[in-house]
Amino acid sequence: MSNTLSVRLDRGERRKITLTLNGRERSGYCESRDLLSDFVRHELGATGTHVGCEHGVCGACTVHVDGVAGRSCLMLAVQVEGRRVDTVEGLAADQTLGDLQQAFQRHHALQCGFCTAGILMSCADYLKRVPDPSETEVREMLSGHLCRCTGYTPIVAAVLDVAARRNAGRKEPEHA
Ligand code: FES
Ligand code: FES
Repeated sequence: MSNTLSVRLDRGERRKITLTLNGRERSGYCESRDLLSDFVRHELGATGTHVGCEHGVCGACTVHVDGVAGRSCLMLAVQVEGRRVDTVEGLAADQTLGDLQQAFQRHHALQCGFCTAGILMSCADYLKRVPDPSETEVREMLSGHLCRCTGYTPIVAAVLDVAARRNAGRKEPEHA
């Protein structure tokens, strides 16, 4: 009986978590069972991260932890103590859309937008690792995300467009 009681008390306990969210040190409180997705949304107010399936299938909740994309519904908030977390809000530095977001806008790569934050975060990580992907590779990467509005074609076009523009920028000769 007393053991049961102590487990209940442990579960209700909230502990302070300090992390770097989108480049700024932030702190918040969570229970040991709280999901990272709920923590960033409800405790830190980063509501750009969406929650769909809550079991790792749809990809809507994708964020970066220490620069690597992952499902925030499959992580506990306590796991990010002292770590760097980036959400979709971090892609628009100084309130200006990043190049990936601008490409999504140009290609109308979203409709309801529910899946978009997660897709953007996966694409941002992917393009760092694979700067010149083929269409097939982009489609394979996107297979980790469920979007029920776009049919994916504009999303693929946006990703290929931003990759091409970045690569053209890298290849431009320096002016003397
Ligand atoms: S809400 Fe995390 S994968 Fe669907
Ligand atoms: S734009 Fe609606 S679910 Fe993807």
